[in-house]
Amino acid sequence: MSPVTNSILAFGLLGVGIVAAVHIVILLGQNNTTHEKYFKWAHRIGGYIFFVLYLFISVVMFQKLEEFNVLPPKAVIHSYIGIAILPLIIIKICIARLYKKFYKSLPIYGMVLVIAVYLQIPLYAGLYMISAIKSQYVIIQEKGKFVKVNVNIGRKVVQQKCATCHSLERVYAHVKTEPDWRDYVSRMRAKDPGVMTEQEAREALGYLVKNLGIDEMKMDIQIGMRIILEKCHKCHTLERVFTSKKTTAEWAQTIELMRSFDPHLLNDSEARQVNYYLSKVLARQELGLDKLKTNRITRQRDLLIR
Ligand code: HEC
Ligand code: HEC
Repeated sequence: MSPVTNSILAFGLLGVGIVAAVHIVILLGQNNTTHEKYFKWAHRIGGYIFFVLYLFISVVMFQKLEEFNVLPPKAVIHSYIGIAILPLIIIKICIARLYKKFYKSLPIYGMVLVIAVYLQIPLYAGLYMISAIKSQYVIIQEKGKFVKVNVNIGRKVVQQKCATCHSLERVYAHVKTEPDWRDYVSRMRAKDPGVMTEQEAREALGYLVKNLGIDEMKMDIQIGMRIILEKCHKCHTLERVFTSKKTTAEWAQTIELMRSFDPHLLNDSEARQVNYYLSKVLARQELGLDKLKTNRITRQRDLLIR
């Protein structure tokens, strides 16, 4: 179940609880109601829906609980309040059905029940809704469909889950295209499938594509430079790259030569970004050079003439 569905269910539970409580409060507040039956039944039906919804959410939540190795403190509080709701419901049903002499205390139980559900909302569903509203989103493809993922949640997943086997530096040292990141994430998951859920993998991918991605449509010298810093020091120093004087065309040739030394060095889109960087930043101006050459030649000629 996605966090959106869970949050909606949680708000639904609170809503049903409030509706049921309001009906009984109205009934108790009026002395001679003409619609007593309606209020009683509305409260009772609300109560049953509440109970069923509560059981359903509990099953979902217990499944979630299994995913944790260590429960964070707020999850502990959340779990205990959630579990405490069950005896409250049972006591309330028992009093209403079997022990009518405690009938007067029912409104208190009802109130405590609604407050308990209310306390469950802020830490999870509430925070989730706020982050959903404030977040950045990115669209990625998932089995042929486009899905929207929350980048802020993705950042947390990467920071927590991608650092379990190696440092985050190893992640942040790379920039990759979306297919490449997708490949990496599924390879990483294959090493230990339990480390993150399908949903988390999607969120991590969204974050990686958004922040460490190569946009095929957009050339960016920053990206080209990062790829060079990351990949071009494996066989020789980076000095070799940054001290070379080449024209754009010569750079393109050199890059093809390097790719022939190691076919896995760069894929096509990385090569495009690298060439873009080289042409913008490191390329020798052909025109400028020609001028320099002609200047030198004229100067030599002048010397010879003299
Ligand atoms: C189960 C352990 C494990 C987890 C979790 C894991 N990795 Fe890795 N990762 C490895 C291992 C082992 C290697 C080295 C072997 C390889 O490249 O396959 C590696 C290598 C990498 C590399 C290449 C590093 C380099 O210097 O070449 C990147 C990038 C990477 N991981 C990214 C990630 C990302 C992103 C995540 C989270 C989505 C992640 N990893 C989670 C085990 C893991
Ligand atoms: C697989 C090993 C390898 C990798 C990785 C590699 N190079 Fe090279 N590079 C070489 C070798 C070998 C030479 C020497 C070739 C020669 O002198 O003919 C060289 C030489 C060079 C030269 C000087 C050669 C000239 O023609 O002036 C430049 C510039 C260069 N590499 C740039 C890069 C860049 C940019 C990258 C990253 C995209 C890169 N290299 C990655 C192996 C590599």
